[in-house]
Formats: sequence, structure tokens, C-alpha cells
Amino acid sequence: MAKKRVVSAMRSSGELHLGHYFGAIKNWLNLQKEYDCFFFGADWHALTSDYKDPSKINRYALSNIKDCLSLGIDPERVTLFIQSHVKEHAELYLLLSMITPLGWLERNPTYKEQISQIQNKDLSNLGFFSYPVLQAADVLVYNGEIVPVGEDQVPHLELSREIARRFNFLYGDVLQTAVFKEPQAELTPTPKIPGIDGRKMSNSYGNAIFLSDPEKVVSEKVMKMMTDPARKRRQDPGEPKLCPLFDLHEVFTEASAQEELARGCRTAAIGCVDCKKELLKRLLPWHDDFLKKRADYESHPKRVHDIIKNGSEKARKEASKTMERVREAIHL
Ligand code: TRP
Ligand code: SF4
Repeated sequence: MAKKRVVSAMRSSGELHLGHYFGAIKNWLNLQKEYDCFFFGADWHALTSDYKDPSKINRYALSNIKDCLSLGIDPERVTLFIQSHVKEHAELYLLLSMITPLGWLERNPTYKEQISQIQNKDLSNLGFFSYPVLQAADVLVYNGEIVPVGEDQVPHLELSREIARRFNFLYGDVLQTAVFKEPQAELTPTPKIPGIDGRKMSNSYGNAIFLSDPEKVVSEKVMKMMTDPARKRRQDPGEPKLCPLFDLHEVFTEASAQEELARGCRTAAIGCVDCKKELLKRLLPWHDDFLKKRADYESHPKRVHDIIKNGSEKARKEASKTMERVREAIHL
């Protein structure tokens, strides 16, 4: 039986941090074993909000791909590429925009939230408004069946499905078959990854521990990280459930040691400095391994270039097959 197709992407809008690893890429590492995966850097999606300062987008896309490779995304199994290298996404986006009612986009809760929350960027452009149509094209152009995403992306996937359904309804009968499969969102089980200030780790909060941070910076950030705010002095007991640092223990530290640390915290037998050092004992070797692989890709730019070139070619081949059926369905 053919493997099911998985499509997912990351906006090329910044460097990757621990939140990206635990929230998305770690899941991709599992998916690549079982499915036919298409993963890409969504540089056009980054442009929808960063069109005034596009100079970094290309660098981020490349850097994000190197990070993925260093974390274990296997280009032999995964079609790994950059969105703008496959122009078929843009053609399908154009055609889908013809059949997407404005009301669907106006009602999109993610859109409404971003318009009201993001003040430092101008989002009043058509490209940002129609962001979900481009995302639908990203998925449908490969007939993706499973789309692993975070919760904020669920409305976008709902729109992708509605657009696919509408396309099939309007044009499907010509071919006697549905042109598009309706893609399903697969909610990635995401552990809580707080940044150093205790809020959700995010590029826009300036609280991230980046994958590309040198060891020294990672150590400094961990040592500075916020802990249970009620534990003001060394002799005060703390509560790991209320401590952002402990959330990192939950992803890095083996269960038995976690229990011991939690007990130590609740009885004030250990201090936060001890607890942070215990975290670094696990985090740093993992990170060091990543940095070594990352440096290796950095010193072999041709290798990365070829991976992206091959990935984009493979993607283009699949996408152009879909586009032939799409054009035929619309009689173009
Ligand atoms: N919108 C997604 C995000 O912000 C990124 C993305 C772009 C995407 N195209 C996609 C995700 C296609 C899944 C499938 O995270
Ligand atoms: Fe957090 Fe550890 Fe300090 Fe407890 S001891 S408050 S878990 S850092």
C-alpha cells in the first residue's frame, strides 16, 4: 500500500528555538519513518507579514533547513525544500483564490487574532489576508492527506478542506473524480516549552533559547531562567508545577531524576541553581551533538544546496502532476 502523504512547513520568519524542536520537528522525525513527507520552508508565507524587510527571509529559510537536517530530518526519506522554489504553489494559490469567498477569510479566527495582536507590522495587505489560501495550495498541490500543525493552525486547515471541497464540487465532475483529497490536521502533542521569562517560548517575546546559540549562551540563558516565583530564598520550598524551568526538565530529564528533583524542590533540599545545573547536564550534551552536526553542514554548503535542489525538483515533479489535473478540471 502506498504511504500516506504528509505535508508541513515552517514560516521562514526567524531562527529556530527549542519550542520549534519540541513543538514540530521532533514530531516530523517520527512521521518521516512512516509516511511520505513533504517538509518545506515557507518563505512566501514569511513575506506576507515581513514584506517591508525581506532581506533575512532567505537566510532564515536556509538556516531552518540546516537545523532540520542537523536534528535528523533525512533527505533520503523526506522531500525537503523551499516553497518559492516550486512556483506551482503560486499558480494553485491564484486559482484557489478565485473560488474562495471573502467571508471565509474574514471569519478566520487566527487572522482576526493576529490583526488585533500584532502591532509592529503592517498586515493590511492582500497577501496576509489570503495567507490560508496559499497554505491550502501548499497542501493540495501535493494532495497531502495529513498535516501536522499546532493548534493555531487548525482554522487554516479547516479552510484548506473547505476550499478542496468547493473545488471538487465546482470542477470535479469533469474528471469523474475528486481532484483534491481533503487534508486532515494532525494536532501535534506539544509539551509546554516556556522561554527564559516564563512565557511561551517565541521569537517575538525575545525569550527564546535558539538551537544556534553557542553553548555559553545556552548556559547563561538557563541560569537566568525564571523559576517558581514563590521561591524567593534558597530555604523556601518550591513547586515544580509552577516552575517554567521544570517544564524543561520534563522534556530533557529521565522520569526518576525528575521525581527526585521535584522532591528536592518541595523540601528545599536543593536550590534552583542546583536544579538548573542538573538540566544543563542533560541539555548541553544533546545541544553539543546538534551543534557539531550543524557546523558540519555549515562547512559543506554544496551538500545543503544539493539537498534543497533535489528536494525542490522532486516537489516540482509532484506539484506539476497535480497542476495538470487542475488545469484540465478548469478547462484551462
Ligand atoms: N502557516 C504555518 C505556520 O505558521 C506554516 C505553513 C505554511 C504550513 N504552509 C503550510 C503548515 C502548509 C502546514 C502546511 O506555522
Ligand atoms: Fe524550579 Fe527547580 Fe527551583 Fe524548584 S528547584 S523552583 S523546580 S528551578
